[in-house]
Amino acid sequence: MKHILVTGGAGFIGSHTCVELLQNDYSVIIVDNFINSSPEVLDSIHRITKKDFAFYQCDLLDEDNLSRVFQEHSIDAIIHFAGLKAVGESVRQPIRYYFNNVSGTLNLLRQMEQHGVNRLVFSSSATVYGENNPIPYREDMPTGQTTNPYGTTKAMIEQILQDQCKCNSQWGVMLLRYFNPIGAHPSGLIGENPNGIPNNLMPYITQVATGKLPYLNVFGNDYSTSDGTGVRDYIHVCDLARGHVKAVESLFDEGGTKIYNLGTGRGSSVLEVVKTFEQQSGVPIPYQFAPRRAGDLAEYYADASKAERELNWQAEYSLADMCRDSWNFIQKQTPNTTGE
Ligand code: NAD
Ligand code: UD1
Repeated sequence: MKHILVTGGAGFIGSHTCVELLQNDYSVIIVDNFINSSPEVLDSIHRITKKDFAFYQCDLLDEDNLSRVFQEHSIDAIIHFAGLKAVGESVRQPIRYYFNNVSGTLNLLRQMEQHGVNRLVFSSSATVYGENNPIPYREDMPTGQTTNPYGTTKAMIEQILQDQCKCNSQWGVMLLRYFNPIGAHPSGLIGENPNGIPNNLMPYITQVATGKLPYLNVFGNDYSTSDGTGVRDYIHVCDLARGHVKAVESLFDEGGTKIYNLGTGRGSSVLEVVKTFEQQSGVPIPYQFAPRRAGDLAEYYADASKAERELNWQAEYSLADMCRDSWNFIQKQTPNTTGE
């Protein structure tokens, strides 16, 4: 049985990945400081899987505490989700973002070196492709033309990991570039429910559906896309979680850096997401067109063929599944919602 340390394992993507790992008989050690998650998630992971796992409430910035985790477990590989991820906040608080994401990762890498752990899967993002690449995005396209500190932390960490693999052939790293994860576990026990007014499309739609927010602002209806609204590659978080297990399976084959897009390869417009959500929930989503959001691109989606070829992974859930599961989760979090 392989022992996998999951940083940020109480978060949105991390919790779904822990479920998938436990259901595939991996032993799991979670490290999280709950800066953007809560301890109840751990109970939910246990309720879904009926499996035990280790947990440490630990900040990656606290290297002494982190070293305890490495001393107490024999770790085969790490999936590194822990990081701050709000783009707008990163523009306002760049030092906090660079410190948490980059220094946190450096502490983790230092501990790996000290304890002879040399396999890591990193949560990167489609944001590293920047503004100048043609769509669909392929893994061999140039990166680094990022437009905000959050994106730059991802590009910097990708570079750090590639440098480490270049200098030490024993190391094996996978950089997984996620597109737009939405949806939730079909049990409705884990999912995404951010505090405050959401920045991202699906959490915003679900808050309109529950009556917390009056209507959706659709940012821009004059893009050169099929219906004028922005197009993204939405991917079900459970597909993403399965992609991580596939990544871990082949992480031990050879050293070096490997890069994979995790997307569906299909773009959907904002209005398509709204319509599909309405169909799945039976709840109307009032919206109004608003000016374009600064920094948004018109359209992007993944070329997902490399992950299919090399990891034998392909997204399986449809946009309808994603909307259904997002709604199911939010209803379970919010009793007496409009749709009940
Ligand atoms: P999330 O915020 O739900 O999960 C991140 C987890 O890391 C949280 O539980 C948080 O408490 C923890 N954390 C943050 N800083 C920490 C630290 N210093 N020490 C210990 N724990 C810490 O986010 P998510 O959506 O699950 O994203 C996971 C990863 O995937 C992040 O690195 C994110 O940047 C990346 N990513 C997310 C998306 C997305 O749209 N959700 C897209 C691309 C990449
Ligand atoms: C966001 C992140 C990006 C990250 C990506 C992956 C931002 C600005 N960017 O991308 O760094 O890599 O997630 O998950 O957060 N929209 C509306 N109304 C809303 C919210 C969004 O019309 O209230 C539109 C946007 O203009 C966009 C689409 O919905 O066309 C998706 O937006 P969002 O969910 O915020 O994700 P991205 O901006 O693609």
